[in-house]
Order: sequence, then C-alpha cells, then structure tokens
Amino acid sequence: MGAHALATAVIAAAGSGDRLGAGGPKALVELGGRPLLTWSLDAIADATRIESVVVSAPPGHEGAIEAIARGATVVTGGASRSESVARALQSVESDLVAVHDAARPFASSELFDAVVSALEDDPGCDALVAAAPVADTLKRALAGRVIETVPRAELWAAQTPQAFRTGALRSALDADAEALGAATDDASLVEAAGGVVRLLAWNEPNLKVTTRTDMRIAEALLKR
Ligand code: CTP
Ligand code: MG
Repeated sequence: MGAHALATAVIAAAGSGDRLGAGGPKALVELGGRPLLTWSLDAIADATRIESVVVSAPPGHEGAIEAIARGATVVTGGASRSESVARALQSVESDLVAVHDAARPFASSELFDAVVSALEDDPGCDALVAAAPVADTLKRALAGRVIETVPRAELWAAQTPQAFRTGALRSALDADAEALGAATDDASLVEAAGGVVRLLAWNEPNLKVTTRTDMRIAEALLKR
C-alpha cells in the first residue's frame, strides 16, 4: 500500500444544546455514563486516516473540554456552528480535514476512514459527505397546509463526518456572518461556492442527538 494522506478531524462541540435542555452544553451531557463528546473522540482515535483533532468548545467550557479531549487542540467556538468550524480550521495544517458534530456519537472509525479515503481517491471532488437515503414521505407545507409531496428518490439526509480539501473549506467559510449563520452543514457552503460535493451512502446508525427523545433512543442503541 502507498502512503495515504492523513486528515485532521474538526469536532464542532460549541453549541449550547438548547433543545436538549440539559442545563449545560450538549457535548458534556452524559450518554452511557460518559460525556457525549467522548464517543466521537474514541472513534476518531481508532480511525487510521486521522492524525490530529481540533475541538471547538462552548465559550466558558474550554477547560472541561480539554480535560476530556486530551491531546486535542481546543479552541473557543463562535456564535454559529459555521463560525465554530471556521475558528477550528485556523488550527488545521493538513490538506484534508474531516468535520464532525459532537452531537453524532455513533459515527464509527470506519466512517471517518471511509469519507477521508473516498475524498482522497477522487481528485475532482472538494467534499465527501456521509448521507442516508430519506425513508419518510416528504411534504412541503405552509402553516400546516400541504403544498406538495416532494419526490424523495433523489433526496438524502446529510450527516457528519464530512471530509474536505482544506483549501476548499477555507474559501467556502470565507462568507458573511449571515450565510455562515444560515448554514446547517459545511458542505452546503462548498456547494454555494461552486465546489464539487459527493455523497457516501451510510446506513449504519449515525443518529444526531437534538432532543431528550433522541438521547433516550441513543441510550437504547448503546445497550444493543
Ligand atoms: N455547534 C457549534 N457551535 C455553535 C453551534 C453549534 O460548534 N455555535 C455544534 C454543536 O455543538 C453540535 C453541532 O454544531 O455538535 C450541531 O448543532 P446542534 O445539534 O444544533 O447543537 P446545539 O446548537 O448545541 O443545540 P441547539 O441548537 O438545540 O442549541
Ligand atoms: Mg444549534
């Protein structure tokens, strides 16, 4: 085997977790008796294609994050998810970067390796996004009244990790605060900048923990 490029992992963990309502940052809330963030850190530690980690921490909680994320670079997060990623990116030196949400504790080391190697293997590609085909029937509605049913054949639910050529992500994040605040993932900013984004179909559990119900589902998944 030839030498493979190694990526830096950026973990967006700076959110306040308002919808979870645990009274503190979501990254520090316990899942299976350990802070949510540790599950992602463990997967990244086992990934062969990741060489270093930068974590974006909730302002005021940098010390608590540092205590969990030993060996990682910890930066203070920003007002929006994208700003938190942009701040972390300032500490990234590798040509490839895998951006991940601390809110997805089930992303496996295999998935981190898969997005990084699929990106490396496709020189025409700027970003590689883990995604699952949408299973629900989708409706567009205004004030509760359905306007249309959206054909789902071409629709995917985007997850993290998302792997990027670092330069492409840097220029995409060089957008105004409004665009950064509106973006719910990083790939959408690369798309808006005209970059080539591809999907990696992923059907293993990769739940995003948003609400208390999600946390209960996550606890149940862990016990399997
Ligand atoms: N995030 C971040 N910086 C922010 C906002 C969010 O790094 N300013 C991170 C969160 O820590 C999370 C991911 O982005 O890992 C996805 O965001 P979300 O699930 O919305 O988490 P929170 O913003 O913490 O939750 P809420 O919106 O309910 O407050
Ligand atoms: Mg949020």
